[in-house]
Amino acid sequence: MKVMVIGRGGREHSLVQKLAESKQVSKVYAVPGNAGMEQVAERLQVEETDQDGLVQLAKEKEVDLTIVGPENPLLDGLVDHFQRNGLKVFGPSKEAALIEGSKHFAKQLMMKYDIPTADYQAFTDLDQAKAYILEKGAPIVVKADGLAAGKGVVVAETVSEALQAAEEMLKHGQFGDASKQIVVEEFLQGEEFSLMAFVSGKRVYPMIPAKDHKRAFEGDQGPNTGGMGAYAPVPIIPESSYDYAVASILQPTANALVEEGRPFTGILYAGLIETKSGPKVIEFNARFGDPETQVVLPLLENDIEQVFLDVLNGKNPELRWSSESCAGVVVASNGYPGDYQKGRPVPVIEGEGSVYTVHAGTEKSEDGYVSSGGRVLLVGAKEKDLPQALESVYEHLEMFEGKKDFYYRRDIGLSSVAAAKSYVK
Ligand code: AMP
Ligand code: GLY
Repeated sequence: MKVMVIGRGGREHSLVQKLAESKQVSKVYAVPGNAGMEQVAERLQVEETDQDGLVQLAKEKEVDLTIVGPENPLLDGLVDHFQRNGLKVFGPSKEAALIEGSKHFAKQLMMKYDIPTADYQAFTDLDQAKAYILEKGAPIVVKADGLAAGKGVVVAETVSEALQAAEEMLKHGQFGDASKQIVVEEFLQGEEFSLMAFVSGKRVYPMIPAKDHKRAFEGDQGPNTGGMGAYAPVPIIPESSYDYAVASILQPTANALVEEGRPFTGILYAGLIETKSGPKVIEFNARFGDPETQVVLPLLENDIEQVFLDVLNGKNPELRWSSESCAGVVVASNGYPGDYQKGRPVPVIEGEGSVYTVHAGTEKSEDGYVSSGGRVLLVGAKEKDLPQALESVYEHLEMFEGKKDFYYRRDIGLSSVAAAKSYVK
């Protein structure tokens, strides 16, 4: 079979890698892809937003299955466009992807179907939003309704911070149309984790839990990013919470989307907080998480192509997971998530043994790889347990010592390992 992966980040590199390992896959196209993918896939230069171009490409190359990585094309209806053209594609329709595209829609769905989440109200009127914030007090969370590239959430420690966030979004149009409406929500305390599942209608096949580190700097300081590191599974999340999250969150959400006439096919991602009264939802995504995918897929023992086909055909893919652990640390351009320079030389020594490298923002130049994005690559390792995986990753990352163009967090996974020691000498 010939498969096509749409996207250019680390998540898509992991997908491309896993598909290339499938015995059934003869060819992988990465569109537009990144330099790291060239080892296992052919790159084709069509933009993720060019729906007609992508359909034409899939027809021309006789692609048997297309997988859409990022959220923007999903919300633009790329899957619907492929289906209208009779092409097989894995991902949610535009209507189903709204669970990621509108926080208010997601909240209404959760309220209607009793899916555990933080209390909230949605506003388009600034005065009403302010009155609600004053009534509830801080800490409190202010969120832009629509997609804001991971920047649309303000966890406000004080009332004045929350008022300012609401004003920026509603009055000053901080995120354009995405912040014409906001959700103001209860602050939830507890350990955060991500749970993804392959979903087709009411059929839900959960993956293992993963933990992302969203803040830029050590100790969860600094601005939110797309994710600076991840590991899977998550030892501090008890099995009972995992079971509860599947039975009381993922399954009822899939059912609810069917009830609402928006059946979901694709990857349903729940961002969860383990509160004293069990896991609650802080967000849904309609796609694989990044960088969670980079530490979850290496632990999947099935042929992923068969998994996609089974899910699309309404068949149980019978997922099997390794008992090992994966950890991954992102190397980012200095300045990210703010301004940063591109085109800086990136030292890449491909991993050996348990260590692997996932490219996110690299291109090739005459002298080797150069950076082309904020998140440049992820160094991962698959080992018998999390401490061992972290040790292997950080040992490999020593090649970035003294490289002033890049930075990485030195405390990925530390909150989960018993001895909170630094893995960097
Ligand atoms: P999101 O973009 O929705 O994933 O939110 C970004 C980050 O804000 C999350 O990873 C959480 O750390 C935090 N966050 C979002 N909602 C809440 C909440 N209700 N309570 C506490 N923290 C939250
Ligand atoms: N890792 C968070 C996300 O993919 O949205």
